[in-house]
This record gives sequence, C-alpha cells and structure tokens, in this order.
Amino acid sequence: MPDPLILDGVGVRYGGVIALCDVSLTVEPGQTLGLIGPNGAGKTTLINATTGIAPLATGTISLGALRLNGLPAHRIARAGIARTYQNIRLFGALDVRTNLAAGAYAQPGTLSDDAARALLERAGVPHLALDALASALPYGDQRRLEIARALAAHPSILMLDEPAAGMNPTETARLVETIRTLARDGIGILLIEHDMTLVRAACDNVVVLNFGEVLARGTPAEIARNPAVIEAYLGTIEEIA
Ligand SMILES: Nc1ncnc2c1ncn2[C@@H]1O[C@H](COP(=O)(O)OP(=O)(O)O)[C@@H](O)[C@H]1O
Ligand SMILES: [Mg+2]
Repeated sequence: MPDPLILDGVGVRYGGVIALCDVSLTVEPGQTLGLIGPNGAGKTTLINATTGIAPLATGTISLGALRLNGLPAHRIARAGIARTYQNIRLFGALDVRTNLAAGAYAQPGTLSDDAARALLERAGVPHLALDALASALPYGDQRRLEIARALAAHPSILMLDEPAAGMNPTETARLVETIRTLARDGIGILLIEHDMTLVRAACDNVVVLNFGEVLARGTPAEIARNPAVIEAYLGTIEEIA
C-alpha cells in the first residue's frame, strides 16, 4: 500500500508575507483531495513547499514515515511526488518524446516508445505524435502532456495546479475521467481547481484555503453549503447559486 502525503502545521513565509500558516492536510493514496480558495490564498505555495521549492518556516511534510521537508527537490521527486504547473512549463522547443523522457529521468534505462505511448494514453492524449513539437500542440493537449510527463516519474502522489485552466467543457469533462482513473489506479491526487463542477465530479474531499489558512474542509457537498466558504470564495462563483 502506498504511503499518504501528510502536511502537519505547515507555514511558509516570503519576507513579510505569510503565504501559508499552520496548514495540515493528508492526501491519501487512491483519493483526490481538492484544494480551493481565492487567488493568493497559498494553493500553489503548498505545492512548492511539498516539492522542495519553498522552504518551510514551520511544520513538517512527510510521505508515510519519510520526512520530505529539508530534502532537495530531486530527492522529493524520486520519493514519488510529481506535479504540473499553473502556467504550463513544457520544454516547448523539444518534442513530445523528449518531454516525457525528461519526466522519466529518475527511472532506470531509456524511455521506450511503447512506454511513452502508454503515458500519453494514461493522460488521455493517445493521439499525440511522439515527434510533435510541444509548443505546436493545442493548449489542452499541452496541459495533458504535462500530466503525462509527471506520470513518467511513476509518482505515488500527483499534484495538479489548475489543470483545467483554458480547457473547454468537453476537455474538462475528459480531464475528470482521467483524474478519476489515475486515482482508481492508486495515485493520491491533490487537485487545485477553481471550477466547482470539476471539483465536485473529481474530488473525494476538499480543503479550502483563505489568506494562507485552512478555512474549511469536508466533502464537496459540505463545502458548497458552508457559509464561511460561500462568503470568502464561492459567493463569487455563479454555478453555486
Ligand atoms: N516566490 C514568491 N515570492 C514572494 N511572494 C510569493 C511567492 N510566491 C507566492 N508569493 C505570495 O504568497 C501568497 C500566496 O501565493 P500563491 O501560493 O501563488 O497563491 P494561489 O496559488 O492560491 O493563488 C501571495 O500573496 C503571493 O503573492
Ligand atoms: Mg496558484
């Protein structure tokens, strides 16, 4: 059984800005945890802290018994934590195959074309040509190629930072299916997302951040009717009304 990702009392500061304050949450294998909240709430910082990019001021981050905070980013990646980026960060001048190989760098041997196609299949883009230039792909395919590149590292925890941004409703619905399948395969998923329809369709539980602190946690249905959440955040989203 893979290990849960456990954040306990995590605080992150940027100079005088408290980006995260005493945040505790657990991402269970095979479950999808939604992370929502207004812009600037600290959602991306939580991924950066977990992946070793943002140092902690307080608290601990562990994968099962393995303490992650304090380890260099490449060790954290090797331990099984993978991510995608809010703003796509593919190697645009390189082809699909090479982008996937970059994600698999910690795996022994070279990435075979069959293995590369299997990654594209899992990410929901089996049609992508391995020699297509990443920057020439349609936007939605680029987002999925990022997911495929993250999967190349065989993660036990996958952190997705607004993966549906810029996708149309059809693409978003397919993304939900992809996320649910990955969770069924046993991956623990942290999903940062603004689209509550997607959150409700994909997530088992939700944590709401506001000004760096946990405002609420619960099932998507509980979150959608939580008065504090509606006031701080959901009140601004039409589909909740
Ligand atoms: N590298 C950084 N340097 C300084 N401040 C940062 C940095 N990254 C984020 N912040 C600040 O931390 C807070 C949380 O940002 P972020 O995690 O990006 O929020 P979210 O992803 O929820 O929109 C914001 O006030 C933001 O300006
Ligand atoms: Mg963000």
